[in-house]
Amino acid sequence: MRPPLPRSLVDTLPVPEAAALAHSRACAAMLKEEIVKAGGWLSFARFMELALYAPGLGYYAAGARKFGADGDFVTAPEISSLFGQTLALSIADVLRQTGGDVLELGPGSGKLASDVLLALDDIGVLPDRYRLLEVSADLRDRQRQALSTLPAHLAARTEWLDALPQDFTGVIIANEVLDVIPVHLVRWGAGWIFERGVALKDEEFVWQDVPALPAELTAPVAHIQHAYLNDQPPDGYLTEVAPAVAGLVNSLAQSLKLGAMLFIDYGFRGAEFYHPQRSTGTLMCHYRHYAHPDPFIYPGLQDITAHVDFTAVAEAGIAAGLQLAGYTTQANFLLAAGLTGLLARIDPRDAIRYLPLTNQLQRLVSPAEMGEFFKVIGFTRGGATIPALATARPLPV
Ligand SMILES: C[S@@+](CC[C@H](N)C(=O)[O-])C[C@H]1O[C@@H](n2cnc3c(N)ncnc32)[C@H](O)[C@@H]1O
Repeated sequence: MRPPLPRSLVDTLPVPEAAALAHSRACAAMLKEEIVKAGGWLSFARFMELALYAPGLGYYAAGARKFGADGDFVTAPEISSLFGQTLALSIADVLRQTGGDVLELGPGSGKLASDVLLALDDIGVLPDRYRLLEVSADLRDRQRQALSTLPAHLAARTEWLDALPQDFTGVIIANEVLDVIPVHLVRWGAGWIFERGVALKDEEFVWQDVPALPAELTAPVAHIQHAYLNDQPPDGYLTEVAPAVAGLVNSLAQSLKLGAMLFIDYGFRGAEFYHPQRSTGTLMCHYRHYAHPDPFIYPGLQDITAHVDFTAVAEAGIAAGLQLAGYTTQANFLLAAGLTGLLARIDPRDAIRYLPLTNQLQRLVSPAEMGEFFKVIGFTRGGATIPALATARPLPV
């Protein structure tokens, strides 16, 4: 069992205001009730799903700010419109070939949708519809509000979906969505494989490992053990396994009849993810710009994430009949897609406009910031191509 965070570390986090604290207590009470209802133990995947998405209580399902400087973390679209504008250049490349729609999964504040639509309008390649699929009712409302301020001919193209469309033609995009899909925790120890879940002790959340795996973990865990851990996992090795990520990629792939799909997220290929020395996994929580590994702190007020295993993403897409169009770093992708050309349109003597943009560009591509930590993986179906991914320096997946 993992020892609790030293008291001093918890104390370094900003204390929530009274209303936020009351919300977190309600979320914690719901989680505790679910643990009791389940017989005293919940898989971590279920705990994460409830802590993030339980209606009205989960982190993404309730009203906290989340994105941007006043929230808990900053995503690329929130850093700079250059991100969406560059992505739009690649989306336009595909739409010119296929026509159809854009479908954005997990649109957050709606900032990326807004930037992409405005840029596609500038380029002169608008999708028939800009479709948004969002699990959180609260975020849907915020997206509707944000996109209602677009020029009327663009706002009229937006459409929220309740389920994946069938026979989709066009481009599917998802920025930082795969990292918030619930993950299972698996631990190897004393010759056994355990699933790590959450139980209660003295009314507090505690880790509890059970010596059994659900059916959906059997094949992926056997694969990880054999392919990456040489069938000799180090004693105590703890990691995440995310069958739901592969499931989501498969569902999206089934829905894509013609066009392309792009995922942008942090993570690495399987051999790095499941490296024997990465023995405590990648689970990370985000609260007011502090990153820490304890999902039991302030449930409902903090994001819970895991890195993405891009090999598993690639395998899921290929198994669903898609063509792997490429896998590279965010920096390589954005530069190949035309990021610097967008900046070149601004006169460097116009320092008030130019300097903030160079700073934002730096944050998107610098290896010390998002440039290498974030990756882009793309798939196509029906002969479509993503030129930027075809020319960007590839990474092995
Ligand atoms: C980390 S935020 C990223 C938001 C936005 N894409 C950005 O880059 O700023 C994750 C988003 O994905 C949504 N989400 C999580 N799981 C989802 C799913 N299965 N389908 C659709 N949206 C999902 C969350 O509600 C949230 O809007």
